[in-house]
Amino acid sequence: MATRFSLPLRTPRLSVSRFLKACRRERTDVTPVWFMRQAGRYMPQYRKLRQRHSILDLCHSPELAAAVTLQPVERLGVDAAIIFADILLPFEPLRLGLQFKTGEGPIIERPIRDASDVERLPAFNVDAELGYVMDAVRLARRALPDGVPLIGFAGAPFTLASYAIEGGASRTFTRTKAFMYQNTEAWHQLLRKLADLVGGYLASQARAGAQALQLFDSWVGCLSPDDYRTYVQPHSKRVLALAAQAGVPLIHFGTGTATFLEDFASAGGDVISVDWRIPLDAAWARIGERAIQGNLEPAALLAPAAERDRQVRDILRRAARRPGHIFNLGHGVLPETDVAAVRAVVDLVHDG
Ligand code: CP3
Repeated sequence: MATRFSLPLRTPRLSVSRFLKACRRERTDVTPVWFMRQAGRYMPQYRKLRQRHSILDLCHSPELAAAVTLQPVERLGVDAAIIFADILLPFEPLRLGLQFKTGEGPIIERPIRDASDVERLPAFNVDAELGYVMDAVRLARRALPDGVPLIGFAGAPFTLASYAIEGGASRTFTRTKAFMYQNTEAWHQLLRKLADLVGGYLASQARAGAQALQLFDSWVGCLSPDDYRTYVQPHSKRVLALAAQAGVPLIHFGTGTATFLEDFASAGGDVISVDWRIPLDAAWARIGERAIQGNLEPAALLAPAAERDRQVRDILRRAARRPGHIFNLGHGVLPETDVAAVRAVVDLVHDG
C-alpha cells in the first residue's frame, strides 16, 4: 500500500517545540499536550488500517508505522508524536514468541519460568533485529511538521519482565513476584539483561531521530516501596543512565507510583510522568527540580464535557503555569474514547 503523508516535509526546528521546552523546564506560550496511546483503536483511521493489517504487521512496516504515528498529530493538534511500536517487540529477537490475540492482549509463547530460561536469552544487535523501528522513526521524523517532535520509547525492565514471566497480562503479578523472591539472583540477571538491551534500544531510536525518549514502567505500582527499591530501581537507573548518553530528554513513566515517588524519580528521567492517583501539585512537590507529565484520569474522557473540563482545569490550576508541565493522561487513551473528546482536551489545554 502506498503511504501518503499529507503534511509537508520540513526539518523540525527544535527551538519552536513547546514540548521540548517544557522537558527542559523552559517557559512556553501554552501548556504542551500529547497522549499516551494517541494512535490506537479509538481512532477510526487506525481501526480501518487494522482491518487489513495485524498489530505486528503495522509495527514491522516502517511506512505503515510512520503513517499511524502521524494520524493523531493531524487529527488532534497535539504537541508531540510517539512512534508507533510496542514495548514487547524486543521479545521477538529474544525468542520468547510474541503474539497479539484479539480481545486478550499479548501472549508470550515461551515465558521465562526459571534461571536457565534467563541464561538462554540470546544477545542480539538492536539495530539489526529492531531496525524496522529505527526506519519508522526516520520516516516519521521526516514527515512531522515544525514544532512537533517525535518521542521514541521502550518498556522498563520490570514491566517487560512481568510480561516475560507471566506469559501475558496479569492482575496480580503472582508469578513475577514469586520469581523475584524465589530466584533472586536470576531475577537480577534478567533485569540487568533487559536494562542493557532497553538502554541501547532507546539510544538507537534517538540516533535515528527521536527527539525525546519515554521509558514505560506501566505495572511497577504493584510493588511495595521497599521491593521497588530492592528489586527494580537499580535496573531502571541503569536504563536511564544508558539512554541519557543519547542527549535527548528522558520521560520516566509509571502508574501507581505515588507510594514511592521519590525513589521512582531518583532512578532518573528529566520528566516524571504520574498517574491520576495523586494530585499533580502534590506529586510535583515530591519530585523536586524536575519537569512533570500528566495526569488526567483516562476515564475522564468518557465523562460528560462539564466534568471532563473541570478535571482538565483542575490539573492546569495545580500546575499554575510553572515551567515544566506537559499535559497528558495518567495512562493511555482508552479504546472506548470519542476522538472529539480528546480533541476538546487539546483545545482546552491550549486555551488555558
Ligand atoms: O500511540 C502510542 O502510544 C504508540 C503506540 C504504543 C502501542 N503500545 C501500540 C499498541 C505504545 C506506546 C505501546 C506501549 C505499550 N504496549 C505498553 C506501555 C503503555 C501502557 O499502556 O501501559 C504496554 C504495557 C504494551 C503491551 C501491550 N500492547 C498490551 C497490553 C496490548 C494489548 C492491550 C490492548 O490495548 O489491546 C498491546 C497491543 C497494542 N499496542 C495496541 C496498540 C495500539 C492495541 C492493539 C490493537 O490495535 O489491536
